[in-house]
Amino acid sequence: MADEIKGFIFDLDGVITDTAEYHYKSWQKLADEEDLFFNREVNEQLRGVSRMESLEIILDGKEVPEEQKKEWTDRKNSYYQDYLEEITKDDILDDMEEKLMKLKKDGYKLAVGSSSRNAKKVLKHLQITDIFDTIADGHSVENAKPAPDLFLYAANNLGLKPEECVVLEDAESGVEAALAAKMKAVGVGPESRVGKAHLVYANVGDIDFDEILKKL
Ligand code: BG6
Ligand code: MG
Repeated sequence: MADEIKGFIFDLDGVITDTAEYHYKSWQKLADEEDLFFNREVNEQLRGVSRMESLEIILDGKEVPEEQKKEWTDRKNSYYQDYLEEITKDDILDDMEEKLMKLKKDGYKLAVGSSSRNAKKVLKHLQITDIFDTIADGHSVENAKPAPDLFLYAANNLGLKPEECVVLEDAESGVEAALAAKMKAVGVGPESRVGKAHLVYANVGDIDFDEILKKL
C-alpha cells in the first residue's frame, strides 16, 4: 500500500554512484602486487560485501595470517581512497540527484545504507550529504549485509518502522538484507543478481518512484 511508505534507504555504491570500478582497480593492483588470482568476474562477487569479507572471497580458502590480511585490506583501501579524490558531482548516476530532491520535497525521509566505511567521503565528493536524514555505513553496525542490521539501524534513525521503508539495492546481499529486515526491496541490475527484490529495474535511470509508490 503506497500510503504506508514513509522513507527510502539507498545503497550507495551501484545505486547513487558507480564506485565498483574503483574498487576493482584497487583490488586488482593489490592482487598483482601479491600474486593473488583476481579478475572482473571475481570482482562481481564483491558487490555489497565488506572489505575484509571481500579479501576472504579473493583468497578463496587460502590461509593468510591476520596481520597480513589487515595490511592488504589497508593497502587496498589506500589505493581506493586515492581514486575517491577524483570523484565529483558528475559521478552521480543518471538523474539520481533530481530523484532524491523530488522525494525529499514530497516529504519522504531519506537514508543511505552502505557497507562502505568510505560512504561519508564519497557523499561529500558527490556533494549530496545534506539531502539525507541519516547515513548508515560500514562503521554503523557489526553484522554486514545480508544481515538486516544496517537497514534496521537506518530505519530506527529515521524514526520509521521497517515496513514503512523501501530499500534500493544493486547487490544480492543487499536485497537479502532488505528482505530480512522486512522492508520493501527494489533491485537495480539484472534479474540474476537482484531478482529476489519486490520490484526490479535494469538501470538507475529506469527507476520510477511513482511506480514504486503505487506497486509496493
Ligand atoms: C560496498 C561495495 O558498498 O562497500 C563493496 O559494494 C565494498 O564492493 C564495500 O567492498 C566496503 O567498502 P569500503 O569502502 O569500506 O572498503
Ligand atoms: Mg551496492
